[in-house]
Amino acid sequence: MKHALSIPEAVAVLRKGGAVGMPTETVYGLAADARRERAVARVFELKGRPNTNPLIVHVASVEVAEQYAVVDDRAPKLFAKFSPGPLTIVLPLRQGISSLVTAGLNTVGIRIPDHPLALELLRAFDGPLAAPSANRSNHVSPTTAEHVRRDFGDAVPVLDGGACRVGIESTVLTLAADRPTILRPGSVSRNAIEAIIGPVAVFAGHIASTTAAASPGQQERHYAPRSPAFRVDQATIKQIANRFAVLELPSDADEASRVFYARLRDLDSTLPPAILIAMPPDEPRWAALRDRIIRATRPYSDDR
Ligand code: TXA
Ligand code: MG
Repeated sequence: MKHALSIPEAVAVLRKGGAVGMPTETVYGLAADARRERAVARVFELKGRPNTNPLIVHVASVEVAEQYAVVDDRAPKLFAKFSPGPLTIVLPLRQGISSLVTAGLNTVGIRIPDHPLALELLRAFDGPLAAPSANRSNHVSPTTAEHVRRDFGDAVPVLDGGACRVGIESTVLTLAADRPTILRPGSVSRNAIEAIIGPVAVFAGHIASTTAAASPGQQERHYAPRSPAFRVDQATIKQIANRFAVLELPSDADEASRVFYARLRDLDSTLPPAILIAMPPDEPRWAALRDRIIRATRPYSDDR
């Protein structure tokens, strides 16, 4: 067994333009220097991710965020309330970030992760780290260091920070649009954000409904296992469960989010003919996990 990667070793890799697996409270990130085109290009290459999809920039503090983004009067209030934490805020881009990170947009998504090792790494590196989830594109997101190793092997050294506490990706909120809009639901809820800055829209493509999108491209299939996975209502699952592999989830929404990706990976590793997941109730506290289930599955019969 190789020795565990240390912070100084991780910093050395990053300074050389390499990528490292970084634990965060949401999921593990594949981190690289957000200022360096070549370093960021390597992240896209490793993931096999199309470079039209922008990456999140991780920073250690609001002061660092202000170097790279135009921070208006709302962002500091949100950062004060939710950072460090699972909220990414999309803001007008100032300067200094590789255009690969932003996919050429004039905005940048910024977040301060709430994990001691991530913060230690960001401070020691003393710069912004672009980090998408540390999985191969379209594969299930990683919530342990071992998940990252399974996707990338020796190509990516990983800082082991244990199992992720939140388990699903951060809420992405744009403040760079006409009105504040949630682009991706996460554990920081719409209500919690509205309590700070007033009305917030939710991007339609991500709304937590189980109805298939009108056009296929609208609903990204993401986070998908190799076995076909279906979402079904609670009654159906009781009738057909014995013929499929059923992904069981705790009844508490936070707990269910924490274990979701790991259980999906575990079930998928046995390559069952099909995976079934009972949809949690259509309630605000389940919105983020419902979104991830919808992206990982296809509807089963008369889907609700
Ligand atoms: O929890 C997380 O956010 C994890 C951990 C590692 O921090 N990261 C993550 O990154 O999920 P990624 O690259 O897999 O997801 C980034 C999301 C995408 O939905 C992307 O479209 C959106 O953020 N995003 C990033 N920059 C954006 C921008 N400038 N405008 C609009 N959306 C943006
Ligand atoms: Mg991802």
